[in-house]
Amino acid sequence: MAFDHRHLIDIREYSEEDIALILDTAKAFSAVNDRKIKKVPTLRGLTIVNMFNEPSTRTRSSFELAEKRLSADTLNFGGSSTSSVKGESLIDTVETLNAYKIDAIVVRDKHAGAPHIISQHTPAVVIDAGDGKHQHPTQALLDLYSIREHKGCIRDLKVGIVGDVGHSRVVGSLAPALKTMGAHVTLVGPATLAPANLGVDRVTPYLDEVLPELDVVYMLRVQRERLEGAPFPSTREYHALYGLTKDRERLMKPDAIVCHPGPINRGVEFDSYMADHPRRSVILDQVYAGICVRMAVLYLLLGGSDNGLDS
Ligand code: CP
Repeated sequence: MAFDHRHLIDIREYSEEDIALILDTAKAFSAVNDRKIKKVPTLRGLTIVNMFNEPSTRTRSSFELAEKRLSADTLNFGGSSTSSVKGESLIDTVETLNAYKIDAIVVRDKHAGAPHIISQHTPAVVIDAGDGKHQHPTQALLDLYSIREHKGCIRDLKVGIVGDVGHSRVVGSLAPALKTMGAHVTLVGPATLAPANLGVDRVTPYLDEVLPELDVVYMLRVQRERLEGAPFPSTREYHALYGLTKDRERLMKPDAIVCHPGPINRGVEFDSYMADHPRRSVILDQVYAGICVRMAVLYLLLGGSDNGLDS
């Protein structure tokens, strides 16, 4: 199947077939991560810049590992260590990187739309690694990969995305991607954190009413850095209404799984019993999926004709 995309900035531009191809390719690359020598020559000679202008643990480290396992040359860059603190603009920064003849830029930025602006000023492939409250497309893809691994397929699953839906770029990509793949999506959260319409099936403030029907309970981090005003009275009250706890587990389907994009606020959206639940929590599987999915995205966008898996 042809993969006809230049960038990964908006997951809504990707069809069901595109997403299925990424997930299947990620599954194939998963084998590399089980080898003694975790490296294939797929992107040898290509240069990828990881420009992270906001903090990250999972996304940054898994992109860098994915690039290294595909034999690309990587340049890690961004934040307060760059000349942006001296007033250099985003576009001048990108023009500077262009002078190095780079092949791809992976960008995280607090400003929604930064990856789109960059794509207009570089011949390189641009991959959005999270922009403001807007999108986080590779997070959505790794979530879909993890859900498919655990539930067998995505079509017709009932997925609840719970918590701070209004400030979450994860929701901005995950909700439409789940719909593209045929899942039923319910957003659950306080009305004060409710999102714009994301084309989901239902929005409700009542977690306990929907928990019994969900196949996947996707908990969100409260985005303390993006909260304005006081959208809920206290952390204790938020936890009482929206925290996934040992008590609430009784309401869940026996085979329902629990996801979270990380980082977790223990005692806010989770208690540790549920965050670390050996049968239900797939959070560390999501972290692992991040490497496989990012290898697949880099390979497909950078036009690799040979995935290198036979070498
Ligand atoms: N899920 C996620 O984007 O985590 P990081 O901020 O640690 O990259």
